[in-house]
Amino acid sequence: MGPTIRIEDLRLERDQRPVLNGVHMAIGGGEIVCLLGPSGAGKSSLLRCINRLTEPPAGTIFLADTDVTAIDVLSLRRQVGMVFQQVSLFPGIVAENVAYGATLQKRTLPSKEIKRLLTLADLPADIAGQDSQTLSGGQAQRVAIARALATEPSALLLDEPTSALDPASTRHVEETMLKLRQELGLTLLWVTHLPEQAKRIADRIYLLVEGQVVEEGAPEHLFGADSDHLAAIFAAGELE
Ligand SMILES: Nc1ncnc2c1ncn2[C@@H]1O[C@H](COP(=O)(O)OP(=O)(O)O)[C@@H](O)[C@H]1O
Ligand SMILES: [Mg+2]
Repeated sequence: MGPTIRIEDLRLERDQRPVLNGVHMAIGGGEIVCLLGPSGAGKSSLLRCINRLTEPPAGTIFLADTDVTAIDVLSLRRQVGMVFQQVSLFPGIVAENVAYGATLQKRTLPSKEIKRLLTLADLPADIAGQDSQTLSGGQAQRVAIARALATEPSALLLDEPTSALDPASTRHVEETMLKLRQELGLTLLWVTHLPEQAKRIADRIYLLVEGQVVEEGAPEHLFGADSDHLAAIFAAGELE
C-alpha cells in the first residue's frame, strides 16, 4: 500500500502575493485524492512542493511520516512520480522514453520490464518499438505514465494529466489510474479543475481556492442532491 502524504500549514509567496496560504491536507495510503480548484488557485504550486521542485518557505510535508526535506531529493522523486499536463516525450522510440529515468541512472531497463510497464499503463507491449512522435495524445500520455512507473514509485502526483486529451482518451487515462491503484496500491494526488472528473475518480476531494483549502469531503457528500457545498457551487460555475 502506498504511503500517506500529510501537508501541514504550507505557505508560499510569489511576487509578494500569497499563492499557498496555510494549506492542510492528509492523503491516506492507496487513496485517490483530487485537488480541485479554479485556474490560479495554487494547485500546481502545491504539487511541486511535494516532490521538492519548489522548496516552500514555511510548512511541512510528510511522506509516510518522514519530512520530505529529510529525504534525498532523487530518492524522493523515485518514490513520488509525477505526470504533467503537457505530454513531453523525447524524439526516439517509445522504449527509450519509458527507460529514460533508468538511463539517467546509468541502468538499462530490460525489454521485458519495458513491456510490463507499458502493459500496466494499458498500452500494447508491441508499441515499444514505435516512434514516439507518431503516437496519439492519449497514447503519449500513457507512455508518460509508464515512464513515471519505471522507478517503482509508491505515489503519483498528476497535474491535470488529461487536459490536452479528447473525452475518450481522458476516460482511458482515468480507468488506467483506477486500475493502477487497484493493482499497485498507489497513493494518488490528482489535480484537476474539472468537477466531473473529480466525481468520477476521487475517493476524496479537496477544494482549493486562492491558496486555501475551503472544503474537503467525499464526492457523494460534496455533490449530493441539493448540495450547498462550495464544491457544488464551483461545479455550477457560480463560485465568486
Ligand atoms: N514561478 C512563479 N512565479 C510567479 N508567480 C507564480 C509562479 N508560479 C505560480 N505563480 C502564481 O501562483 C498562482 C498559482 O499558480 P498555480 O499554482 O499554477 O495555480 P493552478 O495550478 O491552480 O492554476 C498564480 O497566480 C500564478 O501566477
Ligand atoms: Mg496548474
